[in-house]
Amino acid sequence: MCGIVGYIGHDNAKELLLKGLEKLEYRGYDSAGIAVVNDEGTNVFKSKGRIAELRKVADSEDIDGNVGIGHTRWATHGVPNYENSHPHQSATNRFTLVHNGVIENYEELSDAYLSNVTFLSETDTEIIVQLVEYFSDKGLSTEAAFTKVVSLLEGSYALGLIDSQDRDTMYVAKNKSPLLIGVGDGFNVIASDALAMLQVTNQYKEIHDHEIVIVKRDEVVIKDQEGNIQNREAYTAQIDAADAEKGVYDHYMLKEIHEQPAVMRRIIQEYQDDEGNLKMDADITRDVANADRIYIIAAGTSYHAGLVGKEYLEKWAGVPTEVHVASEFIYNMPLLSEKPLFIYISQSGETADSRAVLVETKKLGHKSLTITNVPGSTLSREADHTLLLHAGPEIAVASTKAYTAQIAVLSILSQIVAKEHGREADVALLRELAKVTTAIETIVDDADVMEQIATDFLETTRNAFFIGRTIDYNVSLEGALKLKEISYIQAEGFAGGELKHGTIALIEEGTPVIALATQENVNPSIRGNVKEVAARGANPCIISMDGLNKDGDTYVIPHVHELLTPLVAVVAMQLISYYAALHRDLDVDKPRNLAKSVTVE
Ligand code: G6P
Repeated sequence: MCGIVGYIGHDNAKELLLKGLEKLEYRGYDSAGIAVVNDEGTNVFKSKGRIAELRKVADSEDIDGNVGIGHTRWATHGVPNYENSHPHQSATNRFTLVHNGVIENYEELSDAYLSNVTFLSETDTEIIVQLVEYFSDKGLSTEAAFTKVVSLLEGSYALGLIDSQDRDTMYVAKNKSPLLIGVGDGFNVIASDALAMLQVTNQYKEIHDHEIVIVKRDEVVIKDQEGNIQNREAYTAQIDAADAEKGVYDHYMLKEIHEQPAVMRRIIQEYQDDEGNLKMDADITRDVANADRIYIIAAGTSYHAGLVGKEYLEKWAGVPTEVHVASEFIYNMPLLSEKPLFIYISQSGETADSRAVLVETKKLGHKSLTITNVPGSTLSREADHTLLLHAGPEIAVASTKAYTAQIAVLSILSQIVAKEHGREADVALLRELAKVTTAIETIVDDADVMEQIATDFLETTRNAFFIGRTIDYNVSLEGALKLKEISYIQAEGFAGGELKHGTIALIEEGTPVIALATQENVNPSIRGNVKEVAARGANPCIISMDGLNKDGDTYVIPHVHELLTPLVAVVAMQLISYYAALHRDLDVDKPRNLAKSVTVE
């Protein structure tokens, strides 16, 4: 979703901003723009579509300014076109602004202050920059005008403002939407995430909600709402810039699928002590073990990982666990137990829906744990505890390695809590995870088989069904999500036994039905479900597990612990989806309409 970069220093801002925006492409966007200030004023370049288009427009002029802001826009208010793209400017073009988020009271503010202004765009953003000019015209300094405007805004925002009459300052503020200040020697930057500006610095300062930040070449001044200066140390962003490159792979998604064995190994290492036992911060273990019920809150793929995590927390740790979609939970909270603990699962750590729930449960005084891939992300900062995924940057919009990492971390947490509860461990988890790692390697090595499955079952179809029972059902939901996200094939996951209660009406001659059969207790029944759809003309693709396989199965995954099969079976589904999308010539890494980091509710 929208991304922001900004630079103030001595180098050519244009190129740095364009490179920064390229690094933010993965977040999902449909238009982009930059503004660079020099002696002649503010030069704005915008374009619908990809950064490559913006680059063409920007390169058509030789602009040499050393302060500027840039933006990738994921449309909310108004279609993706030139006018609605950021940066937006005030009526005289003096002020130029980029914004990530949604301003809820923009119509009221417009009515109250800007009835004489002609707006050029349909965005909620334009009113912000027009308001800055309004208050500046009333005699306020730029900082005072910006501060005043920020105090009037309701909703979510990350803002970067430049003033053509002052080439030494950038004005920055945030509420709910992510934004960081990158600090350098003789320059400073702003960025929605550190990845964007790693090209120039790995030193970052957090900004808290409602703070105003004055960014100059040699200084960053952070002020709270009352104007008090806040001292804040910079931290080192622990990201290897090379991790964020595609390397030898055609797509980030393929690279990230292939990285899963390495991620498993890293997790095994990070959560293991010198004696080879599972390890975790004692405060986390205590808080989770003290809960009488766990509420997992997440969205998308992370929600699907949560469904698998519930199995571990209940079966191994013996803690009743509920899994909720964040955007529903916030409006329809169930009756909570007496001592609840909230687990927020989020690859990005920035999902606005999950954050809204965290804010609410904190108000209620409930303990929270975030499981995320991004240290320092909003959900991580604001929760009581964090468990990191150690998966490295995930760039492809469709989540792959984060899902398996989330499940692995949840399995470790569950085993540690089981021990805390004095429950006998019936699984040597680290050994089992090592077996999982090898099994994932086998599947990744079988990529050509997955490509053939994509050809045989999904080449021309408009729809597909994924079925499974118990934990396989959870994985079938993720399999279907992966396929629809990147191939646009209408795909749904169903519980095998539920098919005949309605969905089977959709089965026609040749309909692909991908069935998972990795669970012994439901093996006969899922195979019965496959027969039911086959009898009605479906084209079944059975993915089973070694030991439970039967003649004619399409693919057999290596044998692993039966509660850990999601970690392996999903990799087959990720690859099948990847090739299905590739064969349709689609933009695998940046599927239409989707954003990687969904920072608006
Ligand atoms: C977006 C992405 C999904 C992701 C979901 C949750 O919708 O497109 O791939 O699963 O957000 O993101 P999170 O960062 O919270 O895991």
